[in-house]
Amino acid sequence: MEHQILARALHVVGVVLWIGGVAFVTTVLLPAVRRLKEPRERVDFFEAIEGRFAWQARGTTLLVGATGFYMAHAWNLWERFLSPAFWWMHAMVAVWLLFTVMLFIAEPLVLHRWFRESARRDPERTFRRIERLHALLLTVSLLTVLGAVAGSHGWAP
Ligand code: HEM
Repeated sequence: MEHQILARALHVVGVVLWIGGVAFVTTVLLPAVRRLKEPRERVDFFEAIEGRFAWQARGTTLLVGATGFYMAHAWNLWERFLSPAFWWMHAMVAVWLLFTVMLFIAEPLVLHRWFRESARRDPERTFRRIERLHALLLTVSLLTVLGAVAGSHGWAP
């Protein structure tokens, strides 16, 4: 198998695990935590379960980034970043950057503590914020997947 084909296959496997996990957390786990737990228990309970996924998300973010940059380099696709028609290339890098900053910098250094303190003051509002943040990340990620699959198979708006 050519290296680029292998990179594309691994890229998609990484995206499936990563964005699929975000979809599960957003549409299954968060609603279950809301239903089963009292407001003041929700954030701690959610963080205890989501901690494991955070490691999976960190690994798959690295895989998707490495394979993505490898393909861009191997096919010399950098000029695409100058054209708005390739908005989906920008979207992939933007989603990747957003998650990289959140998972490797913001969450361990700031967000974790911030959510706990905020949950002590107003648990209902904090949990709603966590739900909204996940819904937003999932929506942007899915639009990016739609654009990337359509765009890399010939669709040009
Ligand atoms: C550093 C970040 C990333 C880079 C540099 C990158 C780069 C690439 C490249 C070069 C391609 C092949 C394009 C082509 O064949 O014309 C591709 C395909 C694709 N990427 Fe990314 N990507 C990145 C992140 C992401 C993210 C975060 C997602 C999902 C949200 C994503 C989803 C996809 C999908 C679904 C495809 C299409 C695969 C196919 O249908 O064959 N990528 N990416």
